[in-house]
Amino acid sequence: MTLKDRVLVTAALPYANGPVHVGHAIGAYIPADIYVRYLRANGIDVLYICGTDEHGTPITVTADAEGVSPNDVVDKYHDIQLAAFESIGVEFDNFSGTSRKIHHELSQHFFTAINDKGHIFKKTVERPFCPSCDKFLPDRYVRGTCPSCGAEDQRGDQCEACGKQLEPHELNDAYCAICGGTPKQKETTHWFFKLSEFAQPLKEWIEKDCSHWPDNARNFALGWIKEGLEDRAITRDLAWGIPVPLPEAEGKVLYVWFDAPIGYISSTKEWAEKNGKGDAWKKYWTQPTKIIHFIGKDNIPFHTIIWPATLIAEGSYTLPWRIASNEFLNLEGRKVSTSRGWVIWLHDITRKFNPDAVRYYLISIAPETSDSDFHLDEFQQKVNNELIANLGNFINRTLTFIQKKGSIIPKPSGKLDEDDLKLIEEISGAPKLVGGEIERFKFKNALATLLTVAQKGNQYFQKKEPWKNNPDTALYLCANLVRSLAILSHPFLPQSSEKIWKILKLDGSVSDFGWESAGELAVKSGHEIGRVETLYDKIVDEDIAEFKGKFLKLGEKKLEVVELPEIDYSEFEKTDLRVGEIKKVGDHPNADKLYVLEVDLGPLGVRTLVAGIKESYGRDELVGKKIIVVANLKPVKIRGVESKGMLLAADVEGKPIILSPEKDATAGIKVR
Ligand code: MF3
Ligand code: ZN
Repeated sequence: MTLKDRVLVTAALPYANGPVHVGHAIGAYIPADIYVRYLRANGIDVLYICGTDEHGTPITVTADAEGVSPNDVVDKYHDIQLAAFESIGVEFDNFSGTSRKIHHELSQHFFTAINDKGHIFKKTVERPFCPSCDKFLPDRYVRGTCPSCGAEDQRGDQCEACGKQLEPHELNDAYCAICGGTPKQKETTHWFFKLSEFAQPLKEWIEKDCSHWPDNARNFALGWIKEGLEDRAITRDLAWGIPVPLPEAEGKVLYVWFDAPIGYISSTKEWAEKNGKGDAWKKYWTQPTKIIHFIGKDNIPFHTIIWPATLIAEGSYTLPWRIASNEFLNLEGRKVSTSRGWVIWLHDITRKFNPDAVRYYLISIAPETSDSDFHLDEFQQKVNNELIANLGNFINRTLTFIQKKGSIIPKPSGKLDEDDLKLIEEISGAPKLVGGEIERFKFKNALATLLTVAQKGNQYFQKKEPWKNNPDTALYLCANLVRSLAILSHPFLPQSSEKIWKILKLDGSVSDFGWESAGELAVKSGHEIGRVETLYDKIVDEDIAEFKGKFLKLGEKKLEVVELPEIDYSEFEKTDLRVGEIKKVGDHPNADKLYVLEVDLGPLGVRTLVAGIKESYGRDELVGKKIIVVANLKPVKIRGVESKGMLLAADVEGKPIILSPEKDATAGIKVR
């Protein structure tokens, strides 16, 4: 990479159908973030683009399961994901979403342009259809046994066990994911992309331009071309998605994998719009730019073959320069399974532990060339014994020593000895050493190299024994190494590097300073540092145990079809339900969404109930209303007010709708 380069970095658009977990984070988003921060420190023009993937059956199946609209699912998880990324210091220039207008328009343009050029054809085909649901069952709506590896209960688009791309009709023992019924084949019309036409151009492009791809991506792509590329349907019978822009295509939408990667472009466009930069987005997509897609390995087929073919077919945008594809991260020796709760959500772990400590551990085990394994115990050990004992310790002992001596950086005294000179050499050589690894996409090595530099600092400090000898030269050099480490650690540990910068009381922010400047002795004698604070707290056994107990349990397998745990009739009979009449409605002193109700339960007396219904009901609507109350619950304090019972309400898209007896019923009457 040189200053002349312009770079566009993307990370796979996550489906907005759930939170992101630690495997996602280290699969694409953190490596891309490291790379972008590094390029920026080198003065290179770079954008980091992402957004949520908001179409397709991953979204609608989740919406069905949660009983809400696809729109609600998408809005909810877009925000949850963005907050989780921010919590761990992943900073996008733009985080869009594919259900936005800007993206719909661009995707429809792609379809039309490719169609006009004759690369799309229409064909009547048979597709799985569920007679009892009266619906076609695209992709994830069919479940069954993988024809390739025999794993049961897999989704119709891809087998989670062996990774094979599937078409729903290929599954054995297929069943409808909504009702469990057996699908029939039914005729329907779809539009196909002539992928077969692009085998030759793709092959030439990969052989000529893509020698720097990782092996997993390159081998896969060339292997697939050799096997033969088949034309692929790029439309679906689904009510949620981007309408196919043809009058005869009523009710059809674009296949999610057709529109999603176009999201990289539409999100760049949105970035320009939001920042008042007009056509600046075009530089990144139509003028020489190194476009790098960071993805997990399950996305390789789409990014190495289908997406480049789409770009070649459309004709006006730049092809990717590199695919940075990671393998998978397992969890405590098992495959991650979100449906069984065998997963560590990013937002849970960054809430409990220092986000940079999490980042440190994740980078140190990044599945760069093979699958790797996340272990909470190893997380604790590595943070305590490497991050804290090495990097943290060097910075902390240097700065506290200086603080004890009055917080002023001393002036080197006497002649520099061999050790001093060696340390200066370490400092000046460090940017190249660490940077070289980052440029080769070896982020794990880069972090290890950074730790080696810190270790050299520790050895030097130890040898100099500043508590015994004249400490001036040693402290001066160590303070400078601390500054270098702040700059060099910034791509890996952004939040703590900023903190070191503050403690050093240096100007501006650590990210204002160029990468190469980490090789200089820029902290001057006489400079006063700020108050020293510890960077990382040691992780104690109790924290790990608490986290495991709360978040790491292997649950029973949950289907995406809702299945309820059953209880005995006798258990249900224990609940005492009564008709109540609301007599008074008051505000809750400590909560905006709660009312404090006085409810008459006839022979059971008048009770106080705290209820979260303020968003749906005004006071006047409530007074005099008959409701249903669970009357034999133990009293609980809700935000400081005791509540003696619970009213029943239907949960309509997150809003409570109160249940009432349909005809007049006296307060206190039993409900059964
Ligand atoms: N949503 C896909 C996934 O989570 C990734 C889409 S990447 C894009 O596997 F290129 F299509 F955007
Ligand atoms: Zn069905």
